[in-house]
Amino acid sequence: MNVHGKDAVNTSTTTTGTVLVDTLRWGIAGPGSIARRFGGQLLTSEVGSLAAVASRSRERGEAFANEFSPEGAPAVVYDSYDELFADPGIDAVYIATVHTEHVRLAMLAIEAGKHVVCEKPLSIDHAGVMRLVEAAREAGVYLAEGYMYRFHPQIARFAELLESETIGRIQHIDASFAFASDPAPDHRLADPQLAGGGILDVGGYPVSIARLVAGIAEGRSFASGTAFAEPVSLTAEGTLSAQGVDDWAAASLVFASGVTANVRTGIRLQDDNTVTVIGSKGRLVLRDPWVPSETDGSDIDVDVVGEPGRTIHIEPDRQWGLEGDAVAHNVRAGQSPQITWADSLGNAAVLDRWREAIGLRYPFEVETAFVPTADGRPLKVRGDSIMKYGTITGIDKRVSRLVLGCDNQLTIGHATAMFDHFTELGGNTFDTGYIYGNGLMERLLGRWIANRGLRDDVVVIGKERTPRTAIPSRSRGSSARPSTACRPTTSTCI
Ligand SMILES: NC(=O)c1ccc[n+]([C@@H]2O[C@H](COP(=O)([O-])OP(=O)(O)OC[C@H]3O[C@@H](n4cnc5c(N)ncnc54)[C@H](OP(=O)(O)O)[C@@H]3O)[C@@H](O)[C@H]2O)c1
Repeated sequence: MNVHGKDAVNTSTTTTGTVLVDTLRWGIAGPGSIARRFGGQLLTSEVGSLAAVASRSRERGEAFANEFSPEGAPAVVYDSYDELFADPGIDAVYIATVHTEHVRLAMLAIEAGKHVVCEKPLSIDHAGVMRLVEAAREAGVYLAEGYMYRFHPQIARFAELLESETIGRIQHIDASFAFASDPAPDHRLADPQLAGGGILDVGGYPVSIARLVAGIAEGRSFASGTAFAEPVSLTAEGTLSAQGVDDWAAASLVFASGVTANVRTGIRLQDDNTVTVIGSKGRLVLRDPWVPSETDGSDIDVDVVGEPGRTIHIEPDRQWGLEGDAVAHNVRAGQSPQITWADSLGNAAVLDRWREAIGLRYPFEVETAFVPTADGRPLKVRGDSIMKYGTITGIDKRVSRLVLGCDNQLTIGHATAMFDHFTELGGNTFDTGYIYGNGLMERLLGRWIANRGLRDDVVVIGKERTPRTAIPSRSRGSSARPSTACRPTTSTCI
């Protein structure tokens, strides 16, 4: 039985456990380097198989289909991702393009009712992950960020050892993923327009395992999908390239429990790429946490004070294959315990903070940037909008009864995600004030209104003056025309 969107029904059992669907017909978007790993491991899946591939290059698409199609069932090759998403014969899509295309393509795939595994980082920022999670929740489809290492059995074993307090109370994590490379200026790792640099490429791995271990330290289990925690503080240093991406960066995290972590990443120097956890009774070392050998397996070193050291050997496994098969296991929940939506949201927020701490902002993130809609399509109010509207004397347009407060959107990316979604739901009224961010909120709202060409459609509640600023809102640089004035001390005045 095949599954589209919410139609998961009966169950069956394979060597990887109970599955809710017994066939997953995969489409792959962007058959580049990492897609080859996924495609190769699909060949040995008990539930999944390659059914289609989409590439901007027919030659690349055909070569991929020839190599990874199941015996006797050649995959369809599409010249555009849109055609792939429109194919009713595809159940799930694996998105393996460059970072900057992840949100747009995942949104389109979700809108088409496909289950989605999208390469890490799911989005270049937390705002994009927020849009995707909301879209997947509404569409009732599966969504996972491609942190494949979480699916390897060594991570479940590592978590068990920590949960059973093999090394006592967890105190510190040291984790790195950095490699020495010399990418050409237009390569995705070097080009700021493609969100290059280490933090977004591989920095998410050490951050994600530090958050996982900190979650275990707070008493939550990996198997339940709740083992993560968010740092209460983050300090960082980094080296930016002449092109403006992070060549190397290190961060110190502190969690509410008192657990600390050092994480490092880079694209121009080699680190040891291990994970060490220090506890009150000893330490655990994952020697090869991210890409354990597919032939030799991997080792976890356990050193408990006063006992002889031991090494636990983990047999080789197919982590990309397990990541794909997890769709069949978790299709009803829409997410896997190995990497939940909340976990991806938290990880993205930390990567935002890490980049901010080292002053890394991509050209498409500057305050004045044009930010496209998440799916790249023109913004419009959804057909199922239930928004109610009223009128205000003197304002010649309808006013949504729900008003969006512009007091916490700190970047143009976050502001765009919030304002676009509010508009899709039928909202057109925004409440702002200079005092909320010393003019930042108004500048971001104004930029968004200009980007979307919505000046005549929105209603903006400004403040003539506020207790501390006493600055007339009309002079604050927003391209939005204030439509009404508030009394001095109110924050919303409809
Ligand atoms: N989970 C992992 O182990 C792992 C490992 C490596 C990379 N990744 C992630 O996977 C993604 C792809 O990495 P990769 O090394 O496989 O990349 P890649 O081979 O350089 O490119 C992958 C695909 O992206 C599209 N693409 C390439 N350059 C582009 C550009 N300038 N503009 C728009 N699209 C472009 C191409 O799709 P078309 O064929 O359609 O042209 C290409 O086939 C990245 O987000 C990366 O973080 C994950």
